[in-house]
Amino acid sequence: MNNRGFETIRYRNGRLYYLDQTRLPQEEVMTEAVTPEDVWEAIRHLKVRGAPAIGVFAAYGMVLSAQRSYEKDGTVGDLVSAGHYLMSARPTAVNLEWAVRRMLARYAGLLREEVHYQRGLAEELTQEEKTARVRHQIAELLREAIHIRLEDAACCQEMAENGLKLLEPGMGILTHCNAGALATTGMGTALGPIYLGQERGYDFRVFADETRPLLQGARLTAWELQKAGVDVTLICDNMASTVMKQGKVRAVLVGCDRMAANGDAANKIGTSGLAVLAKEYGIPFYICVPTSSIDPSIETGEEIVIEERDPEEIRSMWYEQPMAPEGISLYNPAFDVTDHQYLTAIITEEGVIYPPFREGIAEMIGLGPQEEPAAEASAEHMTLEIV
Ligand code: MRU
Repeated sequence: MNNRGFETIRYRNGRLYYLDQTRLPQEEVMTEAVTPEDVWEAIRHLKVRGAPAIGVFAAYGMVLSAQRSYEKDGTVGDLVSAGHYLMSARPTAVNLEWAVRRMLARYAGLLREEVHYQRGLAEELTQEEKTARVRHQIAELLREAIHIRLEDAACCQEMAENGLKLLEPGMGILTHCNAGALATTGMGTALGPIYLGQERGYDFRVFADETRPLLQGARLTAWELQKAGVDVTLICDNMASTVMKQGKVRAVLVGCDRMAANGDAANKIGTSGLAVLAKEYGIPFYICVPTSSIDPSIETGEEIVIEERDPEEIRSMWYEQPMAPEGISLYNPAFDVTDHQYLTAIITEEGVIYPPFREGIAEMIGLGPQEEPAAEASAEHMTLEIV
C-alpha cells in the first residue's frame, strides 16, 4: 500500500494484481495478471502506466514468465525472450527496459553462481536437487522485483523532499499528465512534493491539465489529488497559458519518461509546450526524474523513440459520439521532448541538478569524463546477450 490509500501494483501470496487505471475514476478495481501476456497487455493499454510503474510491473512480469516455464518444464525458461517481449509493450519510458535489464542482470548473476556451485560438487545433482536450484533462482528473481518496487517507493520519497525545497507555501502549481502515486509504486514523482507539502501544511493550489487525448490529468491526477484532499482544479490543456498569465501558477512540476544525457526530456505530449510557456511567463519549470529514467546512452532528445498510438484515441475513444469526422487524418504521438534549455532544474532522488545539465547529470549518475555513455550502453546490451 502506498501512503495514498491504494496500491498501483500488488504482489501477494504468489499472485500479481494491478489497479486498472482505465477504469478510473469510476471504479477502483484490482485485476490479476496471471501471465506475461497479461502484463504486456496491461502496459500496452495503459491499465498500468507511468514510467516507474511500468518498470516495476515488467519486473514482476519476468517472474511470471519464469514461474510459467517452471510449471511447464522445470526450468526458468528463456528470460531474454520474455524480456524483449515485455520491453516491446511501449517504447518511450526507459524504466521498462531498465527494469527488464536489471532482472536479466540478476539472472546472469544467478547463472554464474550456479556454475560455481556445480563445479564444486563431486557428483552430479539429482533431479530433486536440480528442481530445488531452479526454485531458488525464481525466488531470487522475485526478490529482485520486490527490491525494484521498494526502491521506487523510496526514490519517490527522496524526490519529494528534494522538490519541496524549491517550493513555497500557498504556491499555485501546474502539472501535466499523471506523475503521481498511480504512475509509481510510491507517492509519485511530480506529485510527490505536492503530497509532502500537504502533509506539512503548505496549502498548494494545484492546476491539473486534463491531458488530451488520454486524459491522464482528468481521470487520474484529479482523482488521486482529490482523494488526498489536495486543492486541485482541473483545466483543459489549452487553458494553461491563461492561468499562467493570470499569475495563478508559480511553478510547473512534471514527470519524465526518458531523459537524454544533455537533459532533454521526453514526457507526455504537451509538456514541451508548457515549458515554452513557462519560460515566456518567467515561471520555474521543474522536472522530476528518478535516476532510473535517465538514459545516458542517448545524447539528445532527438534519439528518443516517441510512441505513436492508435489515432482513434483522438477521434472517438472517450465519447459516445465520435468527436471528428470519419476518415479524417489523425496523428497521435504520445510524448514530446522538452529541450533542456527550458528546464529550470531537474529533481532526482539524489538531489537537484541545475544547468549545465550534461555535466550535472554525468556527475549525479556517476559517469566520469573518461567513461563514454555509449560504452555503458553496449555493456548493458552484452548483459542481455550473455544470459
Ligand atoms: O502514457 P502514460 O500515461 O504512461 O504517460 C505517463 C507520463 O507521461 C508521466 O508523466 C511519466 O511517465 C512520468 S510519471 C512518474
